Amino acid sequence: MKRENWTTRLGVIMAVAGSAIGLGNFLRFPGQAALYGGGAFMIPYLVAFFLLGLPIAWAEWTIGRYAGVRGYNSAPGIFRCVTGKRNMAYAGSFCVTLTTIITSFYVFIEGWCLAYALRYLFGWIEQGSTADFGKLFVETAGLKGNGALFQHGLLNFNLLCMFFCLLFNYFLIYRGIVKGIEWFCSFALPMLLVCSLIIIVRVLTLGNPTGVEGQSIFDGLGYVWNPSQPGKTFWESLLNPEAWLAGAGQVFFSLSLGFGVICTYASYTKQNDDIALSSLTAVAGNGFCEAVLAAMMVIPAAYIFLGPAFLTPDNLGSSFTIGFQALPGVFNQMPMGRMFGFLFFFLLFLAAVTSSISTLQPIVTLLEEGLQLGRKSSLTIAGVITTFGAFFTAYFTENLTALDTMDFWVCNVSIFVMAGFQIIMFSWVLGLDAGMAELQRGAQIRIPRFFRFVMKYVSPLYLILIFVAWMSLKFPEQLVRVSQNTVAQLSLGFIVFVTIFNLFITSQALTRWEKQERLESNEVTGEI
Ligand code: ALA
Repeated sequence: MKRENWTTRLGVIMAVAGSAIGLGNFLRFPGQAALYGGGAFMIPYLVAFFLLGLPIAWAEWTIGRYAGVRGYNSAPGIFRCVTGKRNMAYAGSFCVTLTTIITSFYVFIEGWCLAYALRYLFGWIEQGSTADFGKLFVETAGLKGNGALFQHGLLNFNLLCMFFCLLFNYFLIYRGIVKGIEWFCSFALPMLLVCSLIIIVRVLTLGNPTGVEGQSIFDGLGYVWNPSQPGKTFWESLLNPEAWLAGAGQVFFSLSLGFGVICTYASYTKQNDDIALSSLTAVAGNGFCEAVLAAMMVIPAAYIFLGPAFLTPDNLGSSFTIGFQALPGVFNQMPMGRMFGFLFFFLLFLAAVTSSISTLQPIVTLLEEGLQLGRKSSLTIAGVITTFGAFFTAYFTENLTALDTMDFWVCNVSIFVMAGFQIIMFSWVLGLDAGMAELQRGAQIRIPRFFRFVMKYVSPLYLILIFVAWMSLKFPEQLVRVSQNTVAQLSLGFIVFVTIFNLFITSQALTRWEKQERLESNEVTGEI
């Protein structure tokens, strides 16, 4: 099969940045920042950004390109190629499981974004209070109970939006790395940027629209950026261990680290392409979108119209409340609110698609590489699994248990483990000298020597520390949930099914790779 390469350097940067910039930036980050002390949260966030985010992204790009030029694009192939160990392919298959599960529930949320964007575009959203928008969100997400979205079969607007998102993702992946992913990200990201700049200008020029003292735009910005919050000092916020876990979790989810997406994308670069600066650009672009753009847009807008009383930890606990309940309440009160509402949800939709195509690609790549299937057949199989996963998530909506269970096991547990594998492969298996030489090949920047130490010792240790702390805090509660809740058990069952499926495909891939290698070595021996 002919190997595809990105056509331009900007194209691969856009694709990786597109994978990173998603709902995590515009919905998750503002909620986390406000919840964990605004400006004080920026410290754990930035520390994780420099000690985990940037180094692990460099590691993923490096191992991806290293294996890509040797003919491997799937995470199992990459893991085996870099380590030279057969069984590491099975470890790599967990990355594919992770991304397949993420696609399944991410597309469900992507459907909400599309549904809201269309409602604003066509004026199908009625004026109302924040409570009314709360009801609309309950209806959109089917929170009334399991099967709530399926009461009229499949003819539910929100389900149709999700179905459209699935088809749109399949269409882009079907077009391929260059004509699908690179093409879409190259115009979706600039468009997304324009939408957010328009909204930011609007938010920053709002002044004090309600006339309530202490609810001006400056107070709103202060709520996000000030290191000390009402009732909480800077040190109280900074010394909260949960803020450090949240900072690291945000960096991981937002940068798509540990997903196996960056190494898959990087495997389509050429041998002498710059990856050091490209990675830095994509990482910085993602950071800018959340710590600057999203921070200036979402919370300040909610603060000035709804007041600090609305932004309590209970409300902020769910990233969805801010985006899907508070903001419609804000657009409702804003001059030209319908247009801004459309722009905001359209922006979310674009951001979500650039991320979900990146999480869909790894399973397609594995099927192509492992079973030697064409793109159409690979996509059909991947499509059946992810469509099932998306409808499963959309059916079991009571308390969003299915979504939360998958999110916990995949985004909070597996991502850390897989990121650990990748940084260790770079620093300890490939070796720091070889790894750094590979990273620097073709690079237009020199990576400061300080990062050698960070990548070898600091990042792995930091990762282990965060993982252990996170597990001791959240694991017991999740175990109870799984033991008592049937939907949680079914969700875990779906994860186990996808895991077994990917392990099986990986075993087929291994057989094929080994056969091919035997043939090649026989040819060489024959020649001698
Ligand atoms: N990195 C993607 C996001 O932030 C998954 O949404």
